[in-house]
Amino acid sequence: MVDLRHHGDSEVGHGLLDFAVNVRAGTPPRWLAERIAASVADLAAYPDPGPARRAVARRHRRHPDDVLLTAGAAEAFVLLARALAPRRAVVVHPQFTEPEAALRAAGHRVDRVLLTGGFTLDTAAVPEDADLVMVGNPTNPTSVLHPAEALAALARPGRILVVDEAFADCVPGEPDSLSARTDLPGLVVVRSLTKTWGLAGLRIGYLLAEPALVRRLAEAQPLWSVSTPALVAAGACSSPRAVAEAETWAADLTERRTRLADDLTDLGLAVTPGHRASFLLVRTPGAGRLRRALREHGIAVRRGDTFPGLGPDHVRVAVRDAGTNAQILRVLAELL
Ligand SMILES: Cc1ncc(COP(=O)(O)O)c(C=O)c1O
Repeated sequence: MVDLRHHGDSEVGHGLLDFAVNVRAGTPPRWLAERIAASVADLAAYPDPGPARRAVARRHRRHPDDVLLTAGAAEAFVLLARALAPRRAVVVHPQFTEPEAALRAAGHRVDRVLLTGGFTLDTAAVPEDADLVMVGNPTNPTSVLHPAEALAALARPGRILVVDEAFADCVPGEPDSLSARTDLPGLVVVRSLTKTWGLAGLRIGYLLAEPALVRRLAEAQPLWSVSTPALVAAGACSSPRAVAEAETWAADLTERRTRLADDLTDLGLAVTPGHRASFLLVRTPGAGRLRRALREHGIAVRRGDTFPGLGPDHVRVAVRDAGTNAQILRVLAELL
């Protein structure tokens, strides 16, 4: 049994160069940190999610009733697990492990669909009688982006389809995001603001769904779960200016990721193709040994073997700036 509660943050620290956690380096940006800091003046009042809800709704061309602010995407998975009573819950792996962990913690049985080969979505592998399906897009840890039509084909009446779009803003223009879709029955889109904006310690994300489902999930949420500084961050990160900033970053990320993937391939490592997020899934025999050797050289990468569907030959590598990427490439060239 793999440890579903293992995450990249437990692999960093001790002065290690961080290629293990997928939070954008150099964040939060100063303008955002200043907005959050200024909100401290309002801490005596209980949080009011109204303005942030409206800002998020505008950003995704939705109605505010379609939005529920959460303490990170992680809280959204817990709310879904607590509020729903699936007869057959299916999690498409490899993917972020908290959705399955939350379902199990809430007492649900979970069936896994394991994608193989290039980790592209095989909709036929999802059982017809699944009434809860969870899938990531683009997927952590494979970095693979599934086409919007393939995901949409999984939606049907009587089924809740949860698409984790925590890394959707890594993809310029977000062409395969379902965040604006209101025509798909039972669709829940989960988004995170902690990665691109460097707010992992603040805890802020949200979900988008039809209003009746939003109300049901809100009933499962602790009162005032999302703090005033987190709500201010959600509003700020949803502004047209912030979305444009993320878009510029995503274009730059695409170049850096392509370059890093090419360089890793030149070193003889197998990089999962179709990568579109801020990290790469790498396969090489004895990846565990390589990971430990990297640690001895001051570099942390994320182990792959705690993801259902992956094994000891996988590691995940975050994409950093060119100079930092060059450092891992230098060490890898020595080790390989
Ligand atoms: C795919 C994916 N979804 C959701 C999350 C949780 O994000 P948050 O920090 O918003 O809870 C993570 C965090 O690593 C993730 O990788």
